[in-house]
Order: sequence, then C-alpha cells, then structure tokens
Amino acid sequence: MIPFNYLGWFFKTFGSIIYPEVVRQILCEFLKNVPTQAKILDLGAGTGMMSEFSYKCRDDLSFIAVDPAENMLKYALPYIKTQVASAEDLPFTEGSFDVVLMGESLHHFNNIDQALKEIVRVLKKEGKIFIYDFDVSTFLGKSICRGEKLLGEPGNFFVPEILKKKLEDYGFIAEISKHRWRYTIVATLS
Ligand SMILES: C[S@@+](CC[C@H](N)C(=O)[O-])C[C@H]1O[C@@H](n2cnc3c(N)ncnc32)[C@H](O)[C@@H]1O
Repeated sequence: MIPFNYLGWFFKTFGSIIYPEVVRQILCEFLKNVPTQAKILDLGAGTGMMSEFSYKCRDDLSFIAVDPAENMLKYALPYIKTQVASAEDLPFTEGSFDVVLMGESLHHFNNIDQALKEIVRVLKKEGKIFIYDFDVSTFLGKSICRGEKLLGEPGNFFVPEILKKKLEDYGFIAEISKHRWRYTIVATLS
C-alpha cells in the first residue's frame, strides 16, 4: 500500500505538478455552472489540492475534503473543512452535496461500485461530479497502474469510455475529455 498518511508533505509540495493548466481550466469552466455557495465534496482529497484549484475560480463555494489518511488532511487550507472517511462509507446524509470532485483518487478506492452508490446517495438531484485520472489504455497509464498494483494498491484504473458507461449505469450523463495519458469526466445525475 502507498503510505499516504506519511506523504502529506510530498503531495502538498509537488501535488500540483500532476494537474496541467488545461485540467485546471476545465475544472474552472465546470464550476461556472455550479450554484452560488454550493457544497463541494473533495473525495480522496489528500491535502485538498482540488479544493484549492476550485477556490481560485469560485471562492464562494463551501469545501469539505474527505480522505481516510488523516495526516494528508492536516495540510488542507483553513477554508477547507476536513473529514476522515472512505469513499465507500461516507458520513453524510442523502443529498448533502452539489458537487463531488475526485482528483487522481478514484483508482485508489477499494470498491468502486460501493463508492459510486455512496456518491449518488450524498449528491443532490442533478448534482455533478468531476473526475480527473490516468487513462489505462495509454502506455503511461498502464505503467502507473502496474506500478501501483505492485505496491499493493487496488489500481482501479479505467479506460474513460468504460467509466463513462459505468457512470451512466448509476444514472449520470457523462462527458469525457482526454489529455494524452490522462482524462477528465464531468457528469450530471439525471
Ligand atoms: C494520489 S492521492 C490524490 C490526493 C488529491 N486528490 C490530490 O490530487 O492531490 C490519492 C488519495 O486517495 C485517498 N484514498 C485512498 N483510498 C481511498 C478511499 N477508499 N476513499 C477515499 N479516498 C481514498 C488516499 O488516502 C490519497 O490521499
């Protein structure tokens, strides 16, 4: 397993490198359509990097960073609330959030279906998700997937079209954007 609980300093210092400018722009574009003071769940948030990028374009939103690694969350900035929890068992009531963000975290979830059920449960009607992750159909994506599996991680990497189909099975309307070996998916609960 990757010892995330000891890697907060690393992600705080270098984490932004894995988010190219184009992805930050797509995130800001996506957030333009989110209601004022919407509630945002940053899932598998680590140090809260996705919330930080989001706050730069929408400082009216309310952020909660959720991660099982408590020491990662200690690096979250003061405007980000934190909660130690896993995607598969979210300590929130039905319809609590307008948006769920997942930045390079989905592939770490142990049980994708259980996590998606929880995401659907805590999202409001017509709530939205934003996923940024590695595309396992590319050489680099495959290599990262193999490397993580060797480290004992679940390595639940997707070909984006397969994840889109899965999201549709859970009631989302999803759109993919590809960025060489990475992709973003924005999806709305229908
Ligand atoms: C590569 S880090 C990404 C962190 C952050 N989103 C970022 O972009 O800097 C993956 C994160 O997923 C978290 N994680 C692992 N298993 C998880 C689970 N079952 N539910 C939620 N988060 C999980 C890890 O603790 C880690 O902080």
